[in-house]
Amino acid sequence: MSRGEYPATRMRRNRMKAFSRRLVAENSISTDDLIWPLFVIEGTNCAEAIASMPGVNRWSIDRLIDQAGLALSLGIPAIAIFPSIDPAQKDAAGSLARDGNNLVCRAVAAVKSAHPDLGIICDVALDPFTDHGHDGLFVDGQILNDETIAILCEQAVHQANAGCDIIAPSDMMDGRVGAIRTALDAAGHHDIQIMAYAAKYASGFYGPFREAVNAGSQLGSGGKATYQMDPANGDEALHEIALDLAEGADIVIVKPGMPYLDILHRTKTEFGVPCVAYQVSGEFAMLCAAAQNGWLDRDRVMMESMLAFKRAGADAVLTYFAPDIAKILQK
Ligand code: PBG
Repeated sequence: MSRGEYPATRMRRNRMKAFSRRLVAENSISTDDLIWPLFVIEGTNCAEAIASMPGVNRWSIDRLIDQAGLALSLGIPAIAIFPSIDPAQKDAAGSLARDGNNLVCRAVAAVKSAHPDLGIICDVALDPFTDHGHDGLFVDGQILNDETIAILCEQAVHQANAGCDIIAPSDMMDGRVGAIRTALDAAGHHDIQIMAYAAKYASGFYGPFREAVNAGSQLGSGGKATYQMDPANGDEALHEIALDLAEGADIVIVKPGMPYLDILHRTKTEFGVPCVAYQVSGEFAMLCAAAQNGWLDRDRVMMESMLAFKRAGADAVLTYFAPDIAKILQK
């Protein structure tokens, strides 16, 4: 028997004692890796539960400010704010996205003035504001790419004016990152970052999110397949990422998270740029539901999923577990 095989090599030696496992650990989780997505609604002193996302609420702006304070006190670097819009304010063109005083802009301004050091990220996409729930203009069964981009640029500039630090286009229109970069620069926002949802798949795992922002029940049978990526494809994700980087993306997102760790790993390996994984609402819901049934240990799978993202190459993770993870790390 040559060296390198049993019994000279015993892989379990390094695992025998807790101190040694700590020494040889290749990855670790830090609060520095966390982005906490939060939902906002109109009103005062409101906290509305979301049935499919246990423990997650839609907050009115006053209460959102408290959550932002909690994020800061837990050491979480940034939050992402998603609006849930009253259906009466939606229309086919998503007109409210072009209003600099809309819910998300007011929320950003309020959180920024209360907590200037907390990073704020905003989605750029029309789905919270359109009555059909699509991310772009939808006319005669077609998404209008270039016409949508013009609106997205306005939306991004309003959000930046409100005090948003990072603009996150999640719409998957072609060419939007470059157009948004140009629009931000023209408005004097050279230093506002773009975190592009570069590889975003047409996924069934977004279901609970669509409940949370009350968008998507009217999408129609095709869903978002003409603009979000086909789950069958991997090489195409690298092409998408290359394009968004060339157009000026500072950070790229791979979404969903756990079912797409191969994409995350390839992205990090190929491009070596800042990569963010999005552990989406359906992933959160699955883990919570199994934990509520006593089938999984919630804390354990939450931390294990974070490590999996780190191992695959994520620099940061958007996760609804962010405050719970931060609390564990504080202990
Ligand atoms: C909107 C958007 C979605 C998510 C983030 N931004 C839903 C969608 O594209 O339909 C999903 C997030 C989640 O499921 O947690 N463009």
